[in-house]
Amino acid sequence: PEDFFKNVISHAKEYGFIFPSSEVYDGLSAVYDYGQNGAELKKNLREYWWKAMVQLHDNIVGIDAAILMHPTTWKASGHVDAFNDPLIDNKDSKKRFRADTLVEDFAEKINQKAQKEIDKARERFGDAFDEEQFVATNARVKEYKDKQKAILTRLAHSLENNLLADVKALIEELEIADPDTGSKNWTDVRQFNLMFGTKLGASAENAMDLYLRPETAQGIFVNFLNVQKSGRMKVPFGIAQTGKAFRNEIVARQFIFRMREFEQMEMQFFVRPGDEMKWYEYWKETRLKWHLSLGLGRENYRFHDHEKLAHYANAAADIEFKFPFGFKELEGIHSRTDFDLKAHEEYSGKKLQYFDPELNENYTPYVVETSVGLDRLFLAVFSNSLKEETLEDGSTRTVLALPAVVSPIKAAVLPLVKKDGLPELAKSIVEDLKWDFNVTYDEKDAVGRRYRRQDALGTPFCITVDHQSLEDKTVTIRHRDSMKQDRVSVSSLRSLILEEVGMHRW
Ligand code: GAP
Repeated sequence: PEDFFKNVISHAKEYGFIFPSSEVYDGLSAVYDYGQNGAELKKNLREYWWKAMVQLHDNIVGIDAAILMHPTTWKASGHVDAFNDPLIDNKDSKKRFRADTLVEDFAEKINQKAQKEIDKARERFGDAFDEEQFVATNARVKEYKDKQKAILTRLAHSLENNLLADVKALIEELEIADPDTGSKNWTDVRQFNLMFGTKLGASAENAMDLYLRPETAQGIFVNFLNVQKSGRMKVPFGIAQTGKAFRNEIVARQFIFRMREFEQMEMQFFVRPGDEMKWYEYWKETRLKWHLSLGLGRENYRFHDHEKLAHYANAAADIEFKFPFGFKELEGIHSRTDFDLKAHEEYSGKKLQYFDPELNENYTPYVVETSVGLDRLFLAVFSNSLKEETLEDGSTRTVLALPAVVSPIKAAVLPLVKKDGLPELAKSIVEDLKWDFNVTYDEKDAVGRRYRRQDALGTPFCITVDHQSLEDKTVTIRHRDSMKQDRVSVSSLRSLILEEVGMHRW
């Protein structure tokens, strides 16, 4: 898996999807640039989300709030006081770690031991295997599971109550070492705020301290009444937006999984107080269905219900995805109660209430939020699609089997040879199709190599123009995944391709 992850990163660079930021200066840690194909894939994923959330829901509208917000926003939201990571330094290696991650990784190793036993047993018992019963009755597995749980419970308790000395004690008791050097010589644990600060205004005396937003959600909360009134929205309704967020993360080498500048796609759904659990369940299911519609396989997703809740939530779950380095959070669904709206009322002195004509009463709505990282979604789709295939003749090909709806290039038009008028016909096909979707023209190298290049870029169709095309206006269309080729008329190309690359109903 580690080698595979390396392949993902190098493929992303080689084919113009993702580059390290400011690479000529050796890059900036945990910041990345999207290249010509990455920008297209990312835009298509964003659109796929936007269509599903805004276009397909009568009661959800989209906005685009500013990254810079009044600084009191972050007092009210709790981010100034509570948006912290517990950090610990290793005195020998001088490396900095998240204390909670060190403990969680340790607990996960114990869990993996249990998992090994479970897998062995499953092999032995086959279909008759009952995992739940096995875990409950096998002493060794039970011991691992209990130990893992005890560690995580103690960690959660210490963090919730800000008992940082106890987090350090836990790290020492478990004899957790710096994974690179093996050193167990730790400093105390301290809280580190994740927000990036900046300044507004030219003169030093008058400058106002601002933060780059650490989540897009607050731009929605402070606009709740603007949108409700101007759009005559009735509860329940939602406000969606996509945009950049910034966090000064302490990062492990996980490529675009955890970045310092990243993009979120969030939706706040405003509901009647008391209805929030119903909508929470609704959005959990609805969001999972959306992910499944991309066709990456049900087995790659699971829910993780939170026991430890953020300062604003009364219920929370993650949709986790099986990334190359294991199951990790892809999207969060949070029942945020009226925490945010109430806090903004308190700090601004302005009412953020809704008059419910059916109940004939005023109230502060409750909020159920769905929040997915666009870059994480990109990584999920990209890494899951990258395949090394062995063909019937024993040769191999690299194919990026992206869902066609998000592929950067929908079709490549290739003249078989660079003469006899084939390039001209191929270019005229490009001219015609490019009004409807992204197409590319390629005449360099043998056609087999051009096919391979498009496979690696994730292009679902290659259209080849040959001598017969000049006579009867037909071309071959080659399907990326099956590599099957059909002879079709030039005039049918547009609808054939549109049918495949459009949004499919689910
Ligand atoms: N408004 C709620 C909120 O921001 P979160 O769980 O902190 O909740 C939501 O973030 C999603 O944003 C995560 O599920 C993840 O996909 C993405 N995300 C968070 N931090 C990220 C980071 N440093 N890099 C990339 N994506 C991140």
